Amino acid sequence: MLSISRQTEGEKEPRLITTLAISGYRSLRDLIVPLGRLTIITGANGSGKTSLYRALHLLAETAQGRLVGSLASEGGLPSTLWAGPEVIGRMVRAGVHPVQGTVRKRPVALRLGFGSDDFGYAIDLGMPSPGNPFPLDPAIKVEAMWTGETLRPAAMFAERRGPFVRLRTARSHSWREVTHDLSPFDSMVTHCADPVDGAELLAMRERMRDWRFYDSLRTDPAAPARRRQVMTYTPVLAGDGADLAAAIATIRAIGDCDALDAAIEHAFPGSSLTTEADGHHGGIQFHQPGLLRPLGAAELSDGTLRFLLLVAALLSPRPPELMVLNEPEASLHQSLMPALARLVVTASPERQIVLVSHSDTLIRAIERKGAVNEIRLAKNFGETFSPDLDTPTWVWPRR
Ligand SMILES: Nc1ncnc2c1ncn2[C@@H]1O[C@H](COP(=O)(O)OP(=O)(O)O)[C@@H](O)[C@H]1O
Ligand SMILES: [Mg+2]
Repeated sequence: MLSISRQTEGEKEPRLITTLAISGYRSLRDLIVPLGRLTIITGANGSGKTSLYRALHLLAETAQGRLVGSLASEGGLPSTLWAGPEVIGRMVRAGVHPVQGTVRKRPVALRLGFGSDDFGYAIDLGMPSPGNPFPLDPAIKVEAMWTGETLRPAAMFAERRGPFVRLRTARSHSWREVTHDLSPFDSMVTHCADPVDGAELLAMRERMRDWRFYDSLRTDPAAPARRRQVMTYTPVLAGDGADLAAAIATIRAIGDCDALDAAIEHAFPGSSLTTEADGHHGGIQFHQPGLLRPLGAAELSDGTLRFLLLVAALLSPRPPELMVLNEPEASLHQSLMPALARLVVTASPERQIVLVSHSDTLIRAIERKGAVNEIRLAKNFGETFSPDLDTPTWVWPRR
């Protein structure tokens, strides 16, 4: 029985994305990782952490209709495709033979997918057909959506092969072709949410659109977060942090004020955070012991401002199903790591969090506070792998 719905408010255990699968993307030649309620991705410089973050972001972009454009802006397939050999032979791994290109046996493929408690999705991109006016744009070859954690033909409810898309519902059981001319640069996720047979597809797309990503929240002197801003209802902090004050005021109005105050007190003992408004526009006010007046966002240090941005992001009164943070510790002083760890752990019961981090101090501090799924990445022959991982079961849709 197909049943995909949005999380209803008040439900205790939000759904989990349980598996992330990536193949042929940059150094992620073939990586399948399990995700938990709180997952930390770590590893040395160049091990593939940011690539994994990007891969998850690309999946979310699919639901916004931006996947092919995003890949193109990263340099298209020539740059994003795994640059090593199709297979790394045993003799190469043993150091007997050097790495060499061989004649490809399989078509060029960049594949992304995820499985969750209740449904899964995978997309397979390759070279556009000869004569396509955009030869560097990757073309979508196959997409599949299914119920349950791993792909089984009987559990599939949406399938795309080249320009053909077919859908089926729980009730009908039989497939219905909804289009035979989908462009190779458009995904069925955005173009085939058919109201009759595509309800599941539509529900899934809406959930993927809700995934939230924070990467390098700017704190430089010209950062959007330092400017005065329109004070309007803001349950979700913008990706560039431009609406920090409005987001803090919204947490004060409808969110968890105690968690907000506790996070500030923990990071900056004796300090407090409020907002002010002068007509439509306003800003934050950071009150610190020893100062005669509060400081505005323009006056705060990079580290302080970044911490406040992370507070606003993590304590959003409209928690997303999945929140992904890329190296939030950047520019934060070591002394703030315990407070950031506590903030992440406080936020995680209500939202699944994937945290990409390079900071041992932050990771150890989070681990001391509770159960974490830690995934350590390393590189071997240019390929990212996770040395101490039990690889989850995963099945790619076939071309
Ligand atoms: N197309 C590609 N094929 C193989 N490796 C690549 C490709 N593009 C980039 N890389 C490598 O992927 C590695 C991972 O980079 P990145 O994800 O930024 O690492 P981290 O964030 O862990 O420092 C880099 O060492 C880079 O050289
Ligand atoms: Mg990185």
